[in-house]
Amino acid sequence: MKQTILITGASSGFGLIIATKLHESGYNVIGTSRNPGKIQVPFKMLALDIANDSSIKSFSNELFKLISQLDVLINNAGYYLSGLAEETTIEQGKQQFETNFWGTVKITNELLPFFRKQRFGKIISIGSITGLLNFPSASYYGASKHALEGYYKSLRFELNEFNIKIVMVEPSGFKTNIINSSVNAVGKIDDYDTYRNKVEAFAKDLFEKAPEPTAVIKKLLELVEAKNPKFSNPVGKGNSILLALQYFSYKSFENAIIKNINRF
Ligand SMILES: NC(=O)c1ccc[n+]([C@@H]2O[C@H](COP(=O)([O-])OP(=O)(O)OC[C@H]3O[C@@H](n4cnc5c(N)ncnc54)[C@H](OP(=O)(O)O)[C@@H]3O)[C@@H](O)[C@H]2O)c1
Repeated sequence: MKQTILITGASSGFGLIIATKLHESGYNVIGTSRNPGKIQVPFKMLALDIANDSSIKSFSNELFKLISQLDVLINNAGYYLSGLAEETTIEQGKQQFETNFWGTVKITNELLPFFRKQRFGKIISIGSITGLLNFPSASYYGASKHALEGYYKSLRFELNEFNIKIVMVEPSGFKTNIINSSVNAVGKIDDYDTYRNKVEAFAKDLFEKAPEPTAVIKKLLELVEAKNPKFSNPVGKGNSILLALQYFSYKSFENAIIKNINRF
């Protein structure tokens, strides 16, 4: 029997590529988008806004009509709230959590009874390098991704007896639509003008030089197939930072970031 894989946020970026690859490899793929009609895809697409409770309910009603088994859920949907912490409103921060953290948790909760009943499954969630450490201008985004790490670390223990594997993937910067779909802090505080300009130039440079998402897709394909995947799977340039942090202090990481920002 074909394995069934559900991928949230399959209309662009990592989600679209991995959904297409898995479909081409013979998996039964179901993707989601807030606006499923907006692009033509070779796999089944359902409407879902993970930040909206009634959308989650109608989505799961549709989903359970379609499937008798669910092998893998890839929690990929999310967006980037960019900006200095003090210039970001609490409302913007809450909305970031409503999607990246609570939306991901709510989809997981919606599907857990199904996974528990079948006594197997795998939940792969896309975190971020900013969920393991963080950079300026990503306070709420990084906080939402740190929160996912903490949540799933606990859940992983709890689901062992049901043979449900919990996995995180933590990409560094890769070229997707994430910058075009990002939301920016609405506030402007003059005191930060010089620093903000430097940080924005630093971030722009990082994203312009970001690689295509090949390594993330390769890692996701491995994890879909893996029998006993490990919890944390960082991918990309951040790997060398994480490795260096085993030998050098966090302070040396901060110094390297400050030095890099001061180049601009
Ligand atoms: N690219 C990077 O450098 C990078 C690095 C680390 C982590 N990530 C993470 O990777 C994941 C995918 O991002 P991406 O880089 O591929 O960005 P992307 O190209 O902008 O794709 C984001 C996807 O998420 C969906 N989405 C956004 N808000 C949603 C909501 N409220 N409900 C349902 N779906 C929603 C979008 O679908 P619709 O607009 O069609 O609904 C879209 O398909 C995100 O969780 C992101 O935080 C990305």
